[in-house]
Amino acid sequence: MSAPRNHTIVAIDGPSGSGKSTISRRVAAQLGMAYLDTGAMYRAAAWWCVRDGIDLTDTGAVAQAVRELPLVMGTDPADPGVAVGGEDVSVVIRSTEISTVVSAVATNLEVRDELRRRQREIIDASRRESGIVAEGRDITTVVAPDADVRILLVASEEARLARRAREIHGADDSSALAATRDQVLRRDADDSTVSSFHRAADGVVTIDSSELTLEETVDAVRGLVEATRRSGR
Ligand code: DC
Repeated sequence: MSAPRNHTIVAIDGPSGSGKSTISRRVAAQLGMAYLDTGAMYRAAAWWCVRDGIDLTDTGAVAQAVRELPLVMGTDPADPGVAVGGEDVSVVIRSTEISTVVSAVATNLEVRDELRRRQREIIDASRRESGIVAEGRDITTVVAPDADVRILLVASEEARLARRAREIHGADDSSALAATRDQVLRRDADDSTVSSFHRAADGVVTIDSSELTLEETVDAVRGLVEATRRSGR
């Protein structure tokens, strides 16, 4: 990361259901910055392998496929499209089928090397333009440890389950919660084997959104970014 430090880089990590995608997008839109959803890159990689019928346990074949992945990530927070080989995959990568298998691809260490390299390229390019809010599981620690603002967004297990249940099933009654449990807890347990996103690393500010509304959380994140800018970093 040797490019001049003239625009703000914001790194946000957190577990499923912490609200990081929605909050990162809103903060980026409000501050006129780019937005990078790194989880969507792992989802696009999983979709590509599933579509080609690749056995996701064949780590070498998955890694080779991902090195050839013709992925274009949109970084406009108003419309962050995801395209693979010119095909818009932004909706299909959120399907339950992909959500269920994505950890198998995201825990492949060669896949992580390749996608991290691409993430750093996008972040570096943004330093010379609008700055960026990049979110994921390992952005504060591995992808952009020198980001100007580093935030770990956490929320209680109950709050995270209820949010994802409302998002996926439109309700947070007990059957919706049970149906969401695998997607949130099992996936985070799998993902924890390759990234540390439950405890903040040195220099990373923790924001707990369990008791905050969406707007309050956006304001807290934006406040940190604005304070950093004022301090001249
Ligand atoms: O945030 P999400 O649910 O869209 O993430 C999709 C998957 O990718 C999930 O299994 C976590 C993983 N991921 C990761 O390992 N590292 C990142 N920087 C972002 C996401």
